[in-house]
Amino acid sequence: MYPLPTARKHCQNQQPTITDSDRTSSNTAKSGSRPHIRPISLNNLVMSIADNLKNVRLRIQKAAKNAGRGETDIHLLAVSKTRSPDEIRALHELGQKAFGENYVQEALDKLPALADCSIEWHFIGPLQSNKSRAVATHFDWVHSVDRLRLAERLSQQRPANLGPLNICIQINIDNEESKSGIALSELESLAQQIAALPQLRLRGIMAIPDPDQEASSLAQSFANLKSAFDQLKSLHPEVDTLSMGMSDDMECAIAEGSTQVRIGTALFGPRPPKP
Ligand SMILES: Cc1ncc(COP(=O)(O)O)c(C=O)c1O
Repeated sequence: MYPLPTARKHCQNQQPTITDSDRTSSNTAKSGSRPHIRPISLNNLVMSIADNLKNVRLRIQKAAKNAGRGETDIHLLAVSKTRSPDEIRALHELGQKAFGENYVQEALDKLPALADCSIEWHFIGPLQSNKSRAVATHFDWVHSVDRLRLAERLSQQRPANLGPLNICIQINIDNEESKSGIALSELESLAQQIAALPQLRLRGIMAIPDPDQEASSLAQSFANLKSAFDQLKSLHPEVDTLSMGMSDDMECAIAEGSTQVRIGTALFGPRPPKP
């Protein structure tokens, strides 16, 4: 059993508080209305991604400072699902190295166009066992491991010359039916089994709390994850990653101890509507 900690009070204000003087501009503010998406030139694309990256870095910096943490303790994972190779390349050229993809086929389609970039690829979506080989071969990390059978396949299928695949176990922290992940009570046992697999390296846990809950409950979910992470680290010293926080809640996640925020919309703008 993991103890349930109390969420930190300042976490309850989740809204970013970047002021005009903090930034030049940003095109990512989410409004209640449907985003207007129009084609933009490559130059404009690069400029808006550069602004967005600056803004996201500022948000991370401010949140870390408010939490009495160092900015470098929090890694930025750019979520590039639905984004084109041109958009990914633009962000990569601004210095962003780690990118997260949710869908195996979409990633396989994009990877060849980015083969010359030194990108660290993270798989962050639900993973069916029959697609594990492609992920074991083309990715550096998997954040969504939630069962031993999948972990065993990833370990068996990881090409030896690539070194161990980095693994986070996904936690379904708010017990949502629509989400993948295990309960916190199952973490210790699954982690122990994964840590014993030869071609995997257990790095930590990942979660997507229910975004529709009250700010104080969201903070509590993040705090519970932090407590589980600390416990896991005490059993497996190689564990160093608490992957939590997205565009709308990164401040709260950082306040509660996130070491890696996964950001899509705030970097690339609103995702295109599904066709
Ligand atoms: C697992 C996961 N993490 C992070 C994100 C990024 O979310 P956002 O665009 O709100 O930053 C997504 C987006 O779908 C996701 O699926």
